[in-house]
Order: sequence, then C-alpha cells, then structure tokens
Amino acid sequence: MRKILVTGGAGFIGSSFVQRAIDALHDSRVVNLDSLTYAGNLQNLEAVAKHPRYRFVRGDIRDRALLGEIFTAENIDTVVHFAAESHVDRSIVGPADFIETNVVGTFTLLEAARNAWLKDGVNKRDSRFIHVSTDEVYGSLGDTGAFTETTPYDPRSPYSASKAASDHLVSAYFHTYGLATLITNCSNNYGPYQFPEKLIPLVIHNAVSGKSLPVYGDGKNVRDWLYVADHCDAILKVLAAGRPGETYNIGGSSERQNLTVVETICDLLDRRLGLLPGDKPRRSLITFVKDRPGHDRRYAIDATKIKRELGWAPSMSFEDGMRLTVDWYLEHQSWTEAVTSGAYRDYYRRMYDER
Ligand code: NAD
Ligand code: DAU
Repeated sequence: MRKILVTGGAGFIGSSFVQRAIDALHDSRVVNLDSLTYAGNLQNLEAVAKHPRYRFVRGDIRDRALLGEIFTAENIDTVVHFAAESHVDRSIVGPADFIETNVVGTFTLLEAARNAWLKDGVNKRDSRFIHVSTDEVYGSLGDTGAFTETTPYDPRSPYSASKAASDHLVSAYFHTYGLATLITNCSNNYGPYQFPEKLIPLVIHNAVSGKSLPVYGDGKNVRDWLYVADHCDAILKVLAAGRPGETYNIGGSSERQNLTVVETICDLLDRRLGLLPGDKPRRSLITFVKDRPGHDRRYAIDATKIKRELGWAPSMSFEDGMRLTVDWYLEHQSWTEAVTSGAYRDYYRRMYDER
C-alpha cells in the first residue's frame, strides 16, 4: 500500500492526479498538502473529499515542522510534488514567490524526505520522490527539433529558472544522498479546472462573453499541448516502473501555433453558442497585444524514452481534447465565475488593460 504525499493537489494538474491516484491505486492512501494560493481550489476535489483513503491538509511546503509531522503520522513512502507557482507572466511581474515556493519549497520537501527515508544511507523500502517539472527548463527551440532528456538546461523566465533550480536540487539529492528521486518534464497541459490566467481557459472565458482575445506578439509561438489526464497517467507509469535517478520527458506530440489554438476555440464556441451579435464570428475578437518579455518561441517534446521504457503514449487527440475542454468550461461557468473574483480582475487589468 503506497502512502502518497501529493503537494499542490488542489491545483489544476494536482487535483486531476489525486482523483486518478485514488481511482487507479486501490490500496493507496493520498494525503494532499496544499496552501490554497489563488491557484488552489477545493472545489476541484469535491469528488474525492470524503473518500476514506484521502486526507487534505492545508499547509505550506516550506513548513519543515509540518512536513515532519505528516511524514511520521502518515508513514509517507511516496511524494508526488506538484506544488509550485506556475504562471510565467506572474513570474515576470513578481519573481520572489517563485523562488520561495519552487526553490526553497522543493528544498524543504527534499530535506523532509531525506530525514524520513534515509537511515544509514539505505532508502526506506520502495520510497519514491517524483518531482513534476516542465519542458520550459530546456529553453526555446528553433523551427525544428525537440527536447530530449539530455538537452542542456537553458531557462529564460524567472518561472523556468526556478523550476530548473528545483530540478537540479532533486537530482543532487539522488546523486549525493541516494534519495529515490525521479523527474518528469512535461509540455503544456490543458483541460478542466485550469485557472483562467493560462491561454486556453482565458480565451474560452473571454470568447464566451464577447471580450477581446489577447494574443502575444505575432501569435506564431508554438506549444506542444497535452490533455491533463494523459499527463497524470504518465506520472502513474513513472511511479509504477520509473527508475530512480532518471528523467522522463512527457509531451503531447501536438504542436500548435498560439493563433491556431485561439482560432480553434473561437470556431468551437461559434458552433456551440452561435455567432456574436451582428453575426460576428468570435475570431473577430482576436487582438494582438504587446509580447511577453523573453517569450520562448517554440517548445516540443521528444517522448520516445517514456514510450519505450514505460509504454506511455498520449491517448487524447488535440481536437477531441479541445472539444471536451470547451464543453467543460461551458458547463462549469459557475466555477470560472468563482475563481475570477476580485483578485483575478485586478490581475487581468494589470496584465492586459494597462499594457
Ligand atoms: P497550479 O498553479 O494550477 O497549481 C499549483 C498548486 O500548488 C495550487 O493548488 C497552489 O495552491 C499550490 N501551492 C502553491 N504554492 C504552494 C506552497 N508554497 N505550499 C503548498 N502548496 C502550494 O499549477 P499546475 O498548472 O497544476 O502545475 C502543477 C505542477 O506541474 C507545477 O509544478 C508546474 O510547474 C508543473 N507543470 C505544469 C504544466 C502546465 O502546463 N500547467 C506543464 C508542465 C509542468
Ligand atoms: O510548457 C509547460 C508550461 O506551460 C508550464 O510549465 C507552465 O506552468 C504553464 O503555465 C505553461 O506555460 P506557458 O507560458 O507556455 O503557458 P501560457 O498558457 O501562459 O501561454 C501559452 C502561450 O500562449 C504562450 O506562448 C504565451 C501565449 N499567450 C498566453 C496568454 C496567457 C498569449 O498569447 N496570450 C495570453 O493571454
């Protein structure tokens, strides 16, 4: 029976993982530690909230004493570490929180695991520390090629630099102390419960209500999109059979230019809701705005290793995933309303209206 500490399990990917872990690992127990920042939302976890193998703890991954209590009381043998500040634009406006949570927080969690699991250099039986990271640590690609696990790190935003720093710490704990760590570097996720500061939910939210759709620069930056459930399945495979000390790249093999993504959403919504007043298609809402500073041009993942070693491949096509996602947001407008309250409006004004 795995006793799993999930960090950041009230966020977008973490909440999807918690549900899948409870469903797929029948003899596991999941303790979800989340400080509930603006990005964490317990509504995302209503389906498991009362499950006998689930417990929620509100707390910060930098709280060393709390971590010690949880490791001991719950006899934790597995960490799946999602908790992070995750939005690039926010890291540009205010990098300090990214260093605190992503670097200091990961360090604190590693120390707690080391203290709990390593006795005389011997790992607690079957312990695993999975660090969930990003393809952004590899930097920006030209028109061709894809990131492999051996691509040199070249982070360019405070967010990706903080994730790169945390990856290096995780790797150091494997090499120095023998902690059973594994790192996953994944491409852009999308799907239900993603906070509407990220491109896809932001565009859906604005396009439903006829607001302008901000596209940075020329709209030709490329991201490799992966449906969130596929990412969580990949992490479950890494937990089941990944080799400690290894890195696994995870990607959707679904490269799209941002403008194409935005146009796809516009067309899906026109079909679902009809055209805007005056028979205007939603593509007419597209507005090119000032580019993100240091905006990485293209990301693409080579996921050969995880496919070959662990038998994982994405199951959802971009087209089906986008249909599901748009439908989910249409059916859960109260969720979006709840998370786009006062603080979100201030953020949106600073990020778009004032630039
Ligand atoms: P998110 O912003 O939706 O959720 C982050 C969660 O962490 C929130 O619930 C928040 O409350 C919690 N949290 C933040 N600081 C904390 C702290 N100090 N202590 C405890 N909890 C804290 O993020 P996401 O998009 O779900 O991303 C999850 C992880 O996956 C991150 O590590 C991110 O770097 C990585 N990742 C994300 C993507 C993506 O496309 N979203 C792709 C690859 C990797
Ligand atoms: O690649 C993985 C990363 O993907 C994760 O590590 C990050 O946590 C996650 O936020 C995401 O980062 P991006 O910066 O790629 O995602 P975002 O949704 O912010 O932007 C996607 C692309 O769309 C990017 O090229 C910037 C552009 N964009 C974004 C927003 C919010 C716009 O053109 N307009 C927008 O309003």
